[in-house]
Amino acid sequence: MANTKRITIFALYSKAFCTLFNFFTVNALVTGGSGFIGSNVSRMLLSKGVDVVVFDNLSSGCYDNIKDLPVKFIKGDVLDRDAVCDAFKGIDVVFHLAASVGRQRSIDHPQLDSETNLVGTINVLEGMRATGVKKIVYSSSAAIFGELLSPEIDENHPQNADSPYGVSKLAAEKMILSYTGIYGITAVCLRYFNIYGVNQRYDLYGNVIPIFAHRLFSGQPLIIYGDGSQTRDFVNVYDVARANVMAGLEYQKTDVFNLGSGESITINRLAEMMQEISGLRTGVDYQNERKADVKHCKANANKIMDNMGFKAQVPLEEGLREYIDWYKNTIVKES
Ligand SMILES: NC(=O)c1ccc[n+]([C@@H]2O[C@H](COP(=O)([O-])OP(=O)(O)OC[C@H]3O[C@@H](n4cnc5c(N)ncnc54)[C@H](O)[C@@H]3O)[C@@H](O)[C@H]2O)c1
Repeated sequence: MANTKRITIFALYSKAFCTLFNFFTVNALVTGGSGFIGSNVSRMLLSKGVDVVVFDNLSSGCYDNIKDLPVKFIKGDVLDRDAVCDAFKGIDVVFHLAASVGRQRSIDHPQLDSETNLVGTINVLEGMRATGVKKIVYSSSAAIFGELLSPEIDENHPQNADSPYGVSKLAAEKMILSYTGIYGITAVCLRYFNIYGVNQRYDLYGNVIPIFAHRLFSGQPLIIYGDGSQTRDFVNVYDVARANVMAGLEYQKTDVFNLGSGESITINRLAEMMQEISGLRTGVDYQNERKADVKHCKANANKIMDNMGFKAQVPLEEGLREYIDWYKNTIVKES
């Protein structure tokens, strides 16, 4: 057979293969995809060959988190339903992370919290309905439980959300679950405990690990409220991204899971580890216990293991090393 004929046949087969391949390529949209967790979810989706659209208004997210990723970026607001509907055309699965995040932020800005977290979620669900998207993975929060009644929290712990943030995250979760029954979508809600890792920047409403990193690198003592014996369950964002991908691409049912490591450490030990790893010994400043702080908090990680086969893998010390390296090479260099 002449070479040109072989090439033509090869080209036709390749094109057919590519068409077929493209047909099976999953198209995902990540709301809040330029934020801390969303950018890590986007990166992990890309590593699985998924086409990713990031939809974010950049209010607390940072474009630098995704500037090197081959994603399509749409600067948009989940409160703009037309923009949501436009963005959702051709999407197979939505990872919904866009939110006004954190207890204290919600106490300072309750209306922004409810609008973004509840109305924004309704817009996402309506966008899915309008464009035929059938699957959503929702980033929920352990804040929906409010005051914790036992040291280890399973999915059946009472939901006594006691901040605007906890209430809006819970209402959004319930709204999503109601759409699964009425409109036939599939939803997986992942209730995160304390997440840390690369791309987590320090801000006014930040979590303890970026706050400690900020204070270490600016030569200030680490502030601990109470005697430091309180415990928390820290999960690395790599594991959270992995759970999102499993929930979005592999798990076929509607379900709700607590997402933690299933282990906890004291804040004293965390402070010690971060000083050890960074080599920066700035000391600890103990201040009065804060009223709203829970004493012990750990996820029961059985349900997500039994149903989805997910178990957090990154040991805290390894995750902290990676985070402190990233903080030094990114945040400290930027400042
Ligand atoms: N970080 C944690 O420990 C934690 C714990 C529990 C739950 N969560 C949930 O995980 C999700 C991601 O949180 P994160 O820690 O990455 O915070 P983040 O602030 O880094 O991410 C939120 C993202 O949403 C975007 N956003 C906010 N309002 C928007 C709007 N109206 N339209 C479009 N985009 C908007 C922000 O710009 C940001 O990129 C949130 O839903 C949060 O409730 C986080």
